[in-house]
Amino acid sequence: EKGGHDYFMLKEIEEQPQAVADTLLGHFANGRIVLDEQRLSDQELRDVDKVFVVACGTAYHSGLVAKYAIEHWTRLPVEVELASEFRYRDPVLDRSTLVVAISQSGETADTLEAVRHAKDQKARVLAVCNTNGAQIPREADAVLYTRAGPEIGVASTKCFLAQVTANYLVGLALAQARGTKYPDEVAREYLELEAMPQLVARVLETVEPVRALARELAASPAVLFLGRHVGYPVALEGALKLKELAYMHAEGFAAGELKHGPIALIEDGLPVIVVMPSPKGRAVLHSKMLSNIREIQARGARTVVIAEEGDEAVRPFANHLIEIPASPTLLQPLLATVPLQVFAAEVAQTRGYDVDKPRNLAKSVTVE
Ligand code: M6R
Repeated sequence: EKGGHDYFMLKEIEEQPQAVADTLLGHFANGRIVLDEQRLSDQELRDVDKVFVVACGTAYHSGLVAKYAIEHWTRLPVEVELASEFRYRDPVLDRSTLVVAISQSGETADTLEAVRHAKDQKARVLAVCNTNGAQIPREADAVLYTRAGPEIGVASTKCFLAQVTANYLVGLALAQARGTKYPDEVAREYLELEAMPQLVARVLETVEPVRALARELAASPAVLFLGRHVGYPVALEGALKLKELAYMHAEGFAAGELKHGPIALIEDGLPVIVVMPSPKGRAVLHSKMLSNIREIQARGARTVVIAEEGDEAVRPFANHLIEIPASPTLLQPLLATVPLQVFAAEVAQTRGYDVDKPRNLAKSVTVE
């Protein structure tokens, strides 16, 4: 049942191309993005003037990615918040606010209470969920199901990729409702998404060196992760995987924040994993990131760089280079996250830990 793997999680990492493909399946028909359930009118969707994304843990990181895509495609302001913070605040919501609640289980207590908090103030709720008929989608006004299949490993992997995919679909559905994208533009974005499962599969075919590197770095006291733009949530997710699986001190930073504090942590030999934006995307992101890597390398960091194939400029600054296929900038998290999952799993196994059942953690957090 583990498909020849020692752990469910390793099988689930392998299932990611399918999880992305299945999540797309049926959500684009007759030239339009379609949700699974919609109990609000198209007019109500069109009238949305603000989006809050609420979630916990890995689902929250998928929400951070969503912010970049939804704002870019719809010109709607998007705030992403931990459900446990949102529900105890007094957020400004009304009937034209859309709250997107992301949850694999659909039963996470804080996310469910955030949904109720939003509904009390007449906001509309759209759930992104992996579990049919769970409490969160039952209480939502609209639902888009991720179709990753059951996830047994406590650390979320294939559900993260499925959530990121579903969130793009939510962004396109809003762009379509608001008319900020013409139908042919929505179709073009959807085609880009359809190409991703194959690229995720290619990343999986080339991760063996990542495992070797993980074994080499397994005794490190700490690992830092750096990213910019959509690479920032990827860095946070890479750090979370390493914390929960390998019990290693790991932190993700926005690269632009380095000089505001974190660079003080850099010392000789400290592994720093950097998520490099595409050199063909926004040039400024790429060049700023290059100078960040140069700075940390000059201070002795051992740089592990995840970069697009053919990114020659980054080579001199990478002590270890992990190449991923080229992709549109906004979609890169679907590729860049995969080596980080493999890395965390391998470090954990090298340290002798059960990657399906990390200590102190439960698969679904239904109590506060
Ligand atoms: O079921 P949910 O998506 O609501 O769960 C949210 C978090 O508890 C979950 O993502 C957690 O952070 C995972 N252990 C991360 O790998």
